[in-house]
Amino acid sequence: MPEYLLKIRRFDPQSGQAAYWDEHRIEMEESQSVLDGILKVRNEIDGSVGIRCSCQQAICGSCGVRMNGKPGLACNTHLGIAADRKWRNEAVGGPRDEGEERVIEIEPMGNMPVIRDLIVDMDAVHWKKFQRVTPYLVNKQPVPEREYIVPHDNMVDITQTMACIQCGACVSDCLSMEIDPGFIGPAALAKAYRFVGDPRDADHKERLKDLAEDEHGLYDCTHCFNCIDACPKEVAPMSQIMRLRRKAGSDYHIDDRNNGSRHEESFTTLVKDYGLLHEAELLPRSFGGNSWFGKFAPGAGAVLLKSLPAIVPAVLRGKVNIKTAILGHKIGSKDLSAVQRLFNKVEDRKERIELNLYVVGEDSEPEPVGASAASESENS
Ligand code: SF4
Ligand code: SF4
Ligand code: FES
Repeated sequence: MPEYLLKIRRFDPQSGQAAYWDEHRIEMEESQSVLDGILKVRNEIDGSVGIRCSCQQAICGSCGVRMNGKPGLACNTHLGIAADRKWRNEAVGGPRDEGEERVIEIEPMGNMPVIRDLIVDMDAVHWKKFQRVTPYLVNKQPVPEREYIVPHDNMVDITQTMACIQCGACVSDCLSMEIDPGFIGPAALAKAYRFVGDPRDADHKERLKDLAEDEHGLYDCTHCFNCIDACPKEVAPMSQIMRLRRKAGSDYHIDDRNNGSRHEESFTTLVKDYGLLHEAELLPRSFGGNSWFGKFAPGAGAVLLKSLPAIVPAVLRGKVNIKTAILGHKIGSKDLSAVQRLFNKVEDRKERIELNLYVVGEDSEPEPVGASAASESENS
């Protein structure tokens, strides 16, 4: 049986001592879970190790921790898999080398205060943000006498967000939350899509407007993909946030006071106009829209002035070429026409096509054994 060195991050705020690594060697099968390893330490070596868990089957969402830097469910992560990765050092270190000691660093999740050892305060961050997005259905009126009939496609569309078990793994590694703790965050915004995508809900527009106008809302996500990598249930919170944005901007035309919608639109209009992103134009268009006068939007000037301390050193160090910054990147006219043809093709569509890649399968999946015989005898 392989041996693992479990390095458990211990911290008791009441002790007045700093956090430290508590090391234990255990022998266990590599197919056993990290939670099995922690519970072995707690049951056989040190009963004071703090860990929250319940179902041990990836259902209750209570055993979220970081294992070798990656957040996830301890009950759903094999010891062998956790030991083989060096998430944080992937860029430099890669996976564990053959013969190298099997070390698993287990830490509490990030972006939430630690109550003790591996237990974080979910109330202080995760649940507070969850409540922020009105996490329940607001009935359309009149309520039907019997049940609401929901089209199949709509239910398929929101199934992905319904799979969330509120473990907080995505919150743990959200880069935007690290910079702005007020950001509503991936889990809560994925929950918001669960209702915005549900045709039974009466408040789609109100929800979207509220989240778009909030300076810590829809447009605060920086597309870092961490929440997608972290989620053990493939909820893909970032994709849900992008869907909320598309609905807010394209379907409800919500022009938010944070310039988020315009900023997003500027990326596409600039690529359409120039074939490549014209960074210097991004700021004026984000404030003033796509018109020529947009350049003179006072807000853009104010932000430009504020950014000068970052821009000037970048120019001096040769990281920014002034000519390209002012005139934009150039591509050949043939290539530009090809890009614009693509835009026209997409924009000419009467309906926007949203692909939900969560539910996969073939239309012509083989029938279960005996199914055709059963249906034949039913029809005869
Ligand atoms: S993609 Fe957005 S929501 Fe997800 S972790 Fe990154 S910043 Fe946070
Ligand atoms: S979206 Fe995924 S990672 Fe985030 S709380 Fe839900 S299940 Fe956990
Ligand atoms: S113990 Fe319930 S999800 Fe891990």
